[in-house]
Amino acid sequence: MDFRLTEEQQMIQAAARDFARNQIAPVAADFDASGEFPLDNIRAMGELGLMGIEVPEAYGGSGLDTIGYVLALMEVCAADAAHGTIMSVNNSLFCNGILKYGTEEQKQKYVRAIASGEQIGAYALTEPQSGSDASSMKSRAVLSEDGSHYVINARKSWITSGPHARYLVLFASTDPAAGAKGITAFMIDTEREGFSRGKTEPKLGIRASATCEIELNDYRCPVEDRLGEDGQGFKIAMSVLDAGRIGIAAQAVGIAQAAYDASLAYARDRKAFGKEIGTFQMIQQKIADMKCKLEAARLLTLRAAWAKMQAVETGARFTVDGSMAKLVASEAAMWITHQAVQLHGGMGYSKEMPVERYFRDAKITEIYEGTSEIQRMVIARMETGLR
Ligand code: CAA
Ligand code: FAD
Repeated sequence: MDFRLTEEQQMIQAAARDFARNQIAPVAADFDASGEFPLDNIRAMGELGLMGIEVPEAYGGSGLDTIGYVLALMEVCAADAAHGTIMSVNNSLFCNGILKYGTEEQKQKYVRAIASGEQIGAYALTEPQSGSDASSMKSRAVLSEDGSHYVINARKSWITSGPHARYLVLFASTDPAAGAKGITAFMIDTEREGFSRGKTEPKLGIRASATCEIELNDYRCPVEDRLGEDGQGFKIAMSVLDAGRIGIAAQAVGIAQAAYDASLAYARDRKAFGKEIGTFQMIQQKIADMKCKLEAARLLTLRAAWAKMQAVETGARFTVDGSMAKLVASEAAMWITHQAVQLHGGMGYSKEMPVERYFRDAKITEIYEGTSEIQRMVIARMETGLR
């Protein structure tokens, strides 16, 4: 076992760290307060190669590996988790699926635009009545009589980057009687007739990552914009989430790292009873437990990234690796940011320090891309073979 990073992994980590510390961290609190979408920074991240890290250079990406991707995402999320959410959707949920299941034309058209950061991508699975129970979706796609296009009527909720996305990967049922086996994936161009956006959600955290409802009313999707085969959509959705969940684990590690660093500095600096608070045993226990949970989460996340890299050759599934990483890292981030607020006392509750933002941002990692309850269900079903 070799824990050393390759030269390329170190390079992308350093480039992301440099951009995150100099261009994102100084404006993170302002974007959190305003809820404005950080479009200029996202474009600049695209130019740096952060929007398509695993995308081959032939399709406008950086051609790096999954470990490089999670290292870069940790750095961005340590500065601001909202920037990280937008980055992770472009990389994991959008580009990954098209690279794996798309045609050459789809890769050239859609991956290139999103990996370069010129356009924003989104992934639309959730509906008002179906979040965890994703296969019970009501959105419908009907193939036209001449077979040239599908007519899609869909309502999707909570779509990250929805207000700014040019292209979406969207899931709809082509055969409702077949349940999960009747779901099909489509590439949606938001500039086509029939597409509309609904209300933008006011959120607790990751406030600069815009999230909205979207609607398709008699949207005509050319048959060449179907992603994969008819009826293959649910497996596409799930296997894309296997990879996406590793990204959310990395996001959680980034937030937790920032909260830990702030806590360490405060414990050394803040005095009470004539001493640095870091000398008190109860504060030392918090620091020790934070550090252990942080490093355990990081290791599981890197191992899941490694498992995904092995899968390219073996074809093996890395579902449990991704779910374990997301579950452990998101719960670690929630615990660590909670302790960070406590360790900062009154200042932990103030918007003058970033820890209250880290605490609010951490919560989403336990909810999206499958709640903690769903991760436990996925792990236990696969471990026991029971359901
Ligand atoms: N890879 C490949 N195939 C998979 C798979 C995977 N990871 N998971 C399931 N499948 C296959 C199954 O093998 C099965 O096929 P067969 O019948 O041929 O064996 C089929 O898909 C149906 O699987 P299940 O019976 O297990 O499906 P289910 O209805 O019980 O649901 C679930 C399983 C794990 C709960 C799933 O619905 C789920 O993950 N729910 C959570 C939804 C979610 O994570 N949403 C995230 C939205 S995106 C987002 O949130 C983005 C963001 O914030 C930025
Ligand atoms: P529900 O499924 O209604 O769950 C409610 C509660 O019941 C949860 O605690 C859940 O864990 C629990 N529960 C449900 N089923 C079970 C069970 N079988 N066993 C035990 N407990 C269970 N979706 C997208 O498609 N694309 C996006 O870009 C996207 N971005 C998002 C961004 C944000 C900020 C948010 C908040 C959500 C986003 N989502 C997105 C949706 C997200 O994936 C769902 O909110 C999530 O999967 C949970 O679904 P739900 O909200 O419908 O909760």
